[in-house]
Amino acid sequence: MTSAPGSDVTAVSDQLAAARGRGSAAILDGYSRSVMNTFGPPKRIFVRGEGCHVWDVEGSKHLDLLSGLAVTALGHSHRTVLSAITGQIATLGHVSNFFATPSQVALAERLTGLVSGDSGVDAKVFFANSGTEANEAAFKITRQTGRTKIISTVGSFHGRSMGALAVTHNPKYREPFEPLPGDVEFIPYGDVDALHAAVDDRTAAVVLEPIQGENGIVVPPDGYLTAARDITRRAGALLWIDEVQTGMGRTGRWLDSSREEIVPDVVTLAKGLGNGFPIGACIALGQAAALLGPGSHGSTFGGNPVAAIAGLAVIAVIERDHLLDNATAMGDRLAAGISALDHPLVDHVRGRGLLRGVVLTADVATGVTDAALDAGFIINAPRPNVLRIAPPLIITADQIDSFIETLPKLLGAQGVTA
Ligand SMILES: Cc1ncc(COP(=O)(O)O)c(C=O)c1O
Repeated sequence: MTSAPGSDVTAVSDQLAAARGRGSAAILDGYSRSVMNTFGPPKRIFVRGEGCHVWDVEGSKHLDLLSGLAVTALGHSHRTVLSAITGQIATLGHVSNFFATPSQVALAERLTGLVSGDSGVDAKVFFANSGTEANEAAFKITRQTGRTKIISTVGSFHGRSMGALAVTHNPKYREPFEPLPGDVEFIPYGDVDALHAAVDDRTAAVVLEPIQGENGIVVPPDGYLTAARDITRRAGALLWIDEVQTGMGRTGRWLDSSREEIVPDVVTLAKGLGNGFPIGACIALGQAAALLGPGSHGSTFGGNPVAAIAGLAVIAVIERDHLLDNATAMGDRLAAGISALDHPLVDHVRGRGLLRGVVLTADVATGVTDAALDAGFIINAPRPNVLRIAPPLIITADQIDSFIETLPKLLGAQGVTA
């Protein structure tokens, strides 16, 4: 039996209205009873977003300086993304990977172009649905080299599936799930001598973030990636660069690693690529692009045309609106403005573009993020003494300045003198 299309829409919107109308206490109660407790209790319930702002269920407006963890690069409810997604879903929402779609191929071509740059090296994409899955594909590529040893770094984060977790350092995340896929060695991040000592002709790959995001926006010394490229090339090992957090314009370049003009063997992307529509991509270059063949990997949703068109829309808007330049300019403004406060609780600001860590002189970052939320700003605390600021790439100078002006009050509320 079929019902009129209009009545279906009404039924769904009635359900949504009922869900919102329950009020925050009832929604939180429903959350705790029906959603697994992997993230702790939610701090707010959000119902709407526009540009750099989101509104909670109580109607309070917040400036989103975190972008859903470096995801909504174009801000919320972006018209171009909206019309691309709705246009695609109205035309063709999904086919299996027995088939191709024009959107999928167009995005693959754009991404391979961005990753290859001027190098002339051929590249190919495996589409996934998240950063973890993009890294899982990369992990499987490394196993196809015939070697198993992977060098990762202390403080690294690459995801929570068993493969991605195996190359993630944090013992708190790893230990409950051991044994993980083995033969992974963790060396100090940013240390070229340690790379020299660890990489040998048994090494399948070295995996590095250009900036360690989850570890508190830790920036390695200049030349680190170039050294990693030289060392891996000499050992016949793959260089796998995880740009899940740093990529797609976040640091003022399509890929943060392009700053060092290296050509990696594998690059993983996700987060900002779909502006909130789930998508991940594992891009392999040169010979590494041929290591996965039919049957060696797959995904039902990977390469879905709706996700692909979201990625194409994101790239088009970043180009059209010169958002790489805005990320650089606004990131510099933010860092300079916070440093100029000369606040005793601020040690320094690190990072690049719009991926910034404010390093505090005391472990009060969680208190500051809570105070920020109450004051209408969304930031987070990847470490007890670090605030992460990763706003949409469309952020304006006035919005940046409003946070800088409020920060002393948020720091002052911690009742600590440095
Ligand atoms: C560098 C890096 N890699 C991988 C991931 C995992 O991505 P996802 O949460 O989309 O699976 C993250 C998430 O924070 C990340 O920062």
